[in-house]
Amino acid sequence: MGAQQVRQGFVDLYGAEPEGVWSAPGRVNLIGEHTDYNDGFVMPFALPHVATAAVSRRDDGVLRLHSADVEGGVAELRLDALAPQTDRSWTAYPAGVVWALREAGHAVTGADIHLASTVPTGAGLSSSAALEVVIALALDDLFELGLKRWQLARLCQRAENVYVGAPTGIMDQTASACCERGHALFLDTRDLSQKQIPLDLAAEGMRLLVVDTQVKHAHSDGEYGKRRAGCEKGAALLGVDALRDIPYDGLDAALARLGDDDEVIRLVRHVVTEDQRVEHAVALLESGETRAIGQVLTAGHASLRDDFRISCPELDLVVDTALAGGALGARMTGGGFGGSAIVLAEASDVETLTKSIESAFATAGFTTPRVFEAVPSAGALRVS
Ligand code: GLA
Repeated sequence: MGAQQVRQGFVDLYGAEPEGVWSAPGRVNLIGEHTDYNDGFVMPFALPHVATAAVSRRDDGVLRLHSADVEGGVAELRLDALAPQTDRSWTAYPAGVVWALREAGHAVTGADIHLASTVPTGAGLSSSAALEVVIALALDDLFELGLKRWQLARLCQRAENVYVGAPTGIMDQTASACCERGHALFLDTRDLSQKQIPLDLAAEGMRLLVVDTQVKHAHSDGEYGKRRAGCEKGAALLGVDALRDIPYDGLDAALARLGDDDEVIRLVRHVVTEDQRVEHAVALLESGETRAIGQVLTAGHASLRDDFRISCPELDLVVDTALAGGALGARMTGGGFGGSAIVLAEASDVETLTKSIESAFATAGFTTPRVFEAVPSAGALRVS
C-alpha cells in the first residue's frame, strides 16, 4: 500500500488530514546472526518492503491506533494506562514505542495513527521493527524530540524487550532506522558504530534472492531466549562481558576452558566464528571480491544449523537446493526456526534456481515458498 493510500485511510478514519506520513523498512541480514545480543557484528540491509504510518498529534493523553492490515476498528488507549506485557495484539508494537518514549522522559501527549505494512510477517524480515521504527520516527518529528537514529533504535528495542516481551537484540531496529539505499550496514552492536558498505549486486551481474519458506517463527516462543541465555552463560563461564570479547584466534583456548559443556561450546563457537565471518565478508566487499562472500554465507548456515541448531528442514532444503543448482552461497537469515533464507546467485541462474527450489518444496510436500529479489533500499524516512 502506497503513502497516498495510507494518508487517505487516515482521512477516512479520523476525518482530517494527518500531519505527516512516514515509512520504515523491514530488513534482510546478509551475515551476522545471533551476534547482536552478544555485542558482536551484523551486516543487514533494508528491504523495499515498508511499514507506512500517517500520524497526527493529540494533546489529551489518548493514543488511537488503526491498521489497514488487521481486521477490527480503531483501538483507543490511554497513555497513562500503558503497561508492559498487557497487550498480546499488534497494537503492542506502536503502543510500546509510545510507552518507551514517555518512560525515557519525552513529552509525547497522544496521537492518532493509521498504519499499513508490506513487510511479510513471521518471515524473519523484521516486520515488528518496521512498525516500531516508523512510529518512533513520526513521533520524534512531530514532538520535535531531536533524537538521533540510533537512539530511536534503542527505544524501539526497549519497546520490544520490555513492553512486548521478546528478548531480541538491537539489529533489526537499527537496520530499519539507519540503513541507506544501495548499502549494507556494517554495525558494531556494542557501541552502535556503523559503516555503510556499498552493495550493488546487479552491477556485478548477481542477485540476492529471499526465499520465505512460509514457516512462521515467533521470538517470544522460548527457543530464541534459550539460545540467548546459553550465550550469556558462556560469557559468564569465560569471564567476559559478552562473547564478542572472545577473539577468533582465542577460540580454541576458550572452548578448552568450557570442558565438556557441549551445548555452551556449540553456542560459543557459532558466535565467535560468526563475528569473524562478518568481518571477513566486509573485507571481501571492500576489496571488490563480492562473489567470494557466497562461501562465507554458506559457512554461516552450517554454523547456525549444526552449532546453534536453529534451522529447520525447509530452510536447509532451500540452501541445499540452491547450492546444488550452482548458487554462489546461501543461508538462513533472521532469528531462525522458520522464516526466510537468502541465496546469492549469478543473475543468469535466478530463474532456474527459483524453479528448482519450488520443485524441491513440492516434492517434499512443503508449502510453496515465496521468492523475491532483495535490493538494498532506504531506511526510515518522512514520506510527506
Ligand atoms: C531476530 C532478532 C535480532 C537478532 C536476530 C538473529 O531478528 O530480532 O535482534 O538477534 O534474530 O540474528
